[in-house]
Amino acid sequence: MTLPEKLKQNHTLEDSELKKLLKCGDYDYELFELADSVRREHYGTSVFIRGLIEFTNFCRNNCYYCGIRRDNRNAERYRLELPQIMECCAQGYSLGYRTFVLQGGEDPVYWDSGMTEIICSVKTKYPDCAVTVSAGERPEKIYREWRNAGADRYLLRHETATESHYSQIHPPELSLKKRIACLYSLKELGFQIGAGFMVGSPYQTLDNIIADLRFLQELKPDMAGIGPFIHHRDTPFADFPDGNVELTLRLIAVIRLMLPYILLPATTALGTLDPQGREKGLKAGANVVMPNLSPVVVRKKYSLYENKICTGEEAAECSGCLKKRIEAAGYQMDFSRGDVIR
Ligand code: 5AD
Ligand code: FES
Repeated sequence: MTLPEKLKQNHTLEDSELKKLLKCGDYDYELFELADSVRREHYGTSVFIRGLIEFTNFCRNNCYYCGIRRDNRNAERYRLELPQIMECCAQGYSLGYRTFVLQGGEDPVYWDSGMTEIICSVKTKYPDCAVTVSAGERPEKIYREWRNAGADRYLLRHETATESHYSQIHPPELSLKKRIACLYSLKELGFQIGAGFMVGSPYQTLDNIIADLRFLQELKPDMAGIGPFIHHRDTPFADFPDGNVELTLRLIAVIRLMLPYILLPATTALGTLDPQGREKGLKAGANVVMPNLSPVVVRKKYSLYENKICTGEEAAECSGCLKKRIEAAGYQMDFSRGDVIR
């Protein structure tokens, strides 16, 4: 079957047409090819590299899907000290990385000054690098402090844009309204922002997914993280099935068409469910990878979901492995900061 002419010409579709496209594999070949051509138009064959530092797995929240939720007594908690974080950056810098992503749970110990100090230290030592923070919901005052400390970007997935679905996968104290307010306030403060959602999260419907796409179209984030849901045994969602790789790829492609400039990672979750998942993601329109720079001793402990890949490899091993994979897929590692091109 061939893609609808409308999609080919102006990259838009009505809800019902989108659903048809997402439901079956008939259009995949053409869809991925079109998304790849749009990505090449804007970013060539560059794949931007972000060094991921998982600096704490303490979290005050209790999201039903997440392995580091507060109530998971089996999670072995850790917190990296500033010198360890700086050591991760030093390794990343010597591998050529020019973006560091500081990701962690909502750990109250790092609120305010702790995080500010980390951001300041990294930006002072590596002024040529971008710092991305991914540490959940905080008051605007704290976001501002982090922005003033030099943070360039902020990742905060919206998880689902449907109120009722949001409350099916989160405890009552969390709300979609608050999440969205955080995203807009981060944008207002001048961060490059990243939203995103899981594909195949429990209770998710195709209508929920359409709402997520429409939400992204409205928010116009600089980045979007789209990865399959993967169950974790120590969560309330232990028995739910994992998300679907093909649907995830179709969504990456559709988002590339809707927001051609966007930075889209081929996620670790995608690589976890399919050994070729990240390569497939790149060929469907993704243009970012986020190799892990966390110390190997803590990697297994940052377990959002089961069987996560790259938990035994040293940073340099992942870097070499990724280089081969990216080149074999027909792209190149790009070591620039990789800011969004609007
Ligand atoms: N499977 C897949 N992704 C998950 N995340 C959290 N738990 C899981 C899981 N079980 C994602 C969320 C979060 C990001 C850091 O990781 O979307 O925003
Ligand atoms: Fe980590 Fe391949 S990217 S081992």
